[in-house]
Amino acid sequence: MSLKETIFISPETGEKLFEHEGGGLHYVAPESGHKYEYISGFLDLVYPKELNERVKYHKHFFENLADDYDRYMPQTFKTHKEDEATVRNSFIDLLNLQPNSKVLEVACGTGRDSEFIAPRLNKDGQFVLTDISPKMLKICNDKLANTEVPKMYCLCNADHLPFPDNYFDAVYSFTAMQYFDIKASLAEMARVTKPGGKIVVGDHSMPPWLRGTYFSNVLSTNPGILAEVPLNDIPVCARNVIVRWVIGGIFYLIDFVVGEGEPDADFDYMIAGARGGTLRTRYEGQLEGVTKEAKELAIKAAKAKGMTLHEWLDSNVKEQAKAQLGK
Ligand SMILES: C[S@@+](CC[C@H](N)C(=O)[O-])C[C@H]1O[C@@H](n2cnc3c(N)ncnc32)[C@H](O)[C@@H]1O
Repeated sequence: MSLKETIFISPETGEKLFEHEGGGLHYVAPESGHKYEYISGFLDLVYPKELNERVKYHKHFFENLADDYDRYMPQTFKTHKEDEATVRNSFIDLLNLQPNSKVLEVACGTGRDSEFIAPRLNKDGQFVLTDISPKMLKICNDKLANTEVPKMYCLCNADHLPFPDNYFDAVYSFTAMQYFDIKASLAEMARVTKPGGKIVVGDHSMPPWLRGTYFSNVLSTNPGILAEVPLNDIPVCARNVIVRWVIGGIFYLIDFVVGEGEPDADFDYMIAGARGGTLRTRYEGQLEGVTKEAKELAIKAAKAKGMTLHEWLDSNVKEQAKAQLGK
């Protein structure tokens, strides 16, 4: 029986998963022997197998809500006198999609954004749709049946994405962050996005300037609306981060470009002025203080030599140290 390569990785070990060709609906990680089956028509890559109480609760909540979700959801937009299609499309614009982009949607639910993402992609693109609830995912799958872009669905936990590093051009998730471990899920979204790719996420948050108003008090009958914008959970590799408040100003929307590691900076740029040196010498070259008299003499001597204080100190300290060490 031959094994066919897939885009999925084991959420447990990170190994590449292979599909058994002709061997029924299951995927394997050949080295560790981990095996993943289909449940309710979808590949089940939810990790951990034994979900914690928080994730288990939300999964059951949405399994029970799935059939009515599309009836309830428009209320959010209608309350704030917004057109849902226009608003969702404006969020999707931020993904900078090309027809051949590889796109991941996390917690796509019944596909209320997916139905606007799919038509922007063609047969050369790839659209991967994930959720923890099979019922929500099934409704999404049915909605997108007639779209051209190749689609893949799987069940997974947003805190453990079963995809390789640097795979997607864009990752999107709307109105589900409150159900995730936000730091873990944002780190996962950044991990699976190519450097230069886009991430767009949003969820409820009443902005500070509206808290305590009548507007806020009425809406806070849903306490989730008072969540904080998760600025502390944005990964270090995020670049050009933009935070805005949308849909009546009670949802945050964060978009950023994925970079690599910490931002690049020239810490060796010589600083103008009598003190001189660079940001790096000021950070890494700190020595014990000297007496006030020694400091004043150093400043005078540097000036007389036409040197910055940094140049004078650096050369004199080096010279003295080398002489005393016999180098
Ligand atoms: C409010 S719905 C949002 C659906 C869709 N994004 C939208 O804008 O209409 C929240 C979705 O998050 C999913 N979800 C909840 N916890 C999750 C988790 N830990 N991992 C993945 N999906 C999760 C639910 O199953 C549900 O489909």
